[in-house]
Amino acid sequence: MKTVHNQQTADDWIVCLIEWFDLRARALPWRRSKDPYRIWLSEIMLQQTQVQTVIPYFERFLSAFPTVSALAEANEQDVFKIWEGLGYYSRARNLLKAAKIVHHDHQGKLPDQKNQLLALPGIGPYTAGAILSIAFGKPVPAVDGNVVRVLSRITATAWDLKNLKDRQAVQKVLEQKIPDNRPGDFNEAIMDLGATVCLPQNPQCHQCPLQSSCRANLLNQTADFPVKSSSRPLPVEDRVLIIISSGPLVHVLQRPDTGLLAGLYTFDWLKQDSSVSALNQSRLIEMRASPIVIGVQPLPDLVHRFTHLIWSIKAHWFQISEPNLSPFLDHLDSSCDVSQQSAWVSKKELKHLPLPKAMHAYREIVLDSSTESS
Ligand code: ADE
Ligand code: SF4
Repeated sequence: MKTVHNQQTADDWIVCLIEWFDLRARALPWRRSKDPYRIWLSEIMLQQTQVQTVIPYFERFLSAFPTVSALAEANEQDVFKIWEGLGYYSRARNLLKAAKIVHHDHQGKLPDQKNQLLALPGIGPYTAGAILSIAFGKPVPAVDGNVVRVLSRITATAWDLKNLKDRQAVQKVLEQKIPDNRPGDFNEAIMDLGATVCLPQNPQCHQCPLQSSCRANLLNQTADFPVKSSSRPLPVEDRVLIIISSGPLVHVLQRPDTGLLAGLYTFDWLKQDSSVSALNQSRLIEMRASPIVIGVQPLPDLVHRFTHLIWSIKAHWFQISEPNLSPFLDHLDSSCDVSQQSAWVSKKELKHLPLPKAMHAYREIVLDSSTESS
């Protein structure tokens, strides 16, 4: 790496950063081409998911839907199926909606104007900046929490990751600094530095290309930047999952078109009354007493974190003698009934339905059971 300069200018770090990127850029599949569709897809997947998790999903998605137009013609269930396990499914839903718009209104070509990109579902300022700079070579920064962290350290400025005003301040600073000739590399270099060197907890300053110009490092204060606002703990919802099967059939519900896990399938849920666990117990006892119940098996507990919420799940598997839910309806949650699709499916169908990650362990248990196969 470059040695220390005697006459440092405030912007030396930009040159060092780009030189470092030339040597050390991560070889990621979406960096093999500048196809705007690929860049777009990668940025949507990377919005809430780590690079290593995204890679196989990115490859599979492109094999299934190689172009915007191929995606525009897909049905939502097929898109969800490929997205299954990646989480934050509204991303997949929005991507499909946006692909239809691009296909119909923009001749299948992703627009290269910021306002047109921002008008597409799922594309916000960060993603628009990433697409414009990486795919179209326009000098637009892409600022997310990682970028705020890195910039806050380089400049020793007390920015807060959660503060929107601070994010805008970083945007302003970067608009001044982003090199016209390599805007995409500049943005990706900051992303890579934040992901591999300037880590949230233990920044690896001794191997950082910016160590001689980074203000936080020179002040020996890397732990003080960015500043942390105290965050409230997430609310925890206690939920009781009821898997109901009859012979080879398993009962599933499709979640409503909007909201958490929109459009995905789950098993049934016990009614949630005022979080009184004694009431849950009596509901379970009444359900068990139905003459069509052959057996009830407790399943492992599971905790699932969403962005704004935690599910603490207890689960029970009811095996019944006929595919008939009526003895249980008083006890099962029907709050979403209007838009919920309810169905009995075979194990094979269950395997191919899009289920949210919180359900995967339970599905495995059902599929692995040797009672019957179909
Ligand atoms: N995170 C978000 N966008 C990225 C990109 N293009 N490369 C690496 N990490 C990223
Ligand atoms: Fe981050 Fe340390 Fe590099 Fe500064 S020197 S950018 S704190 S890794």
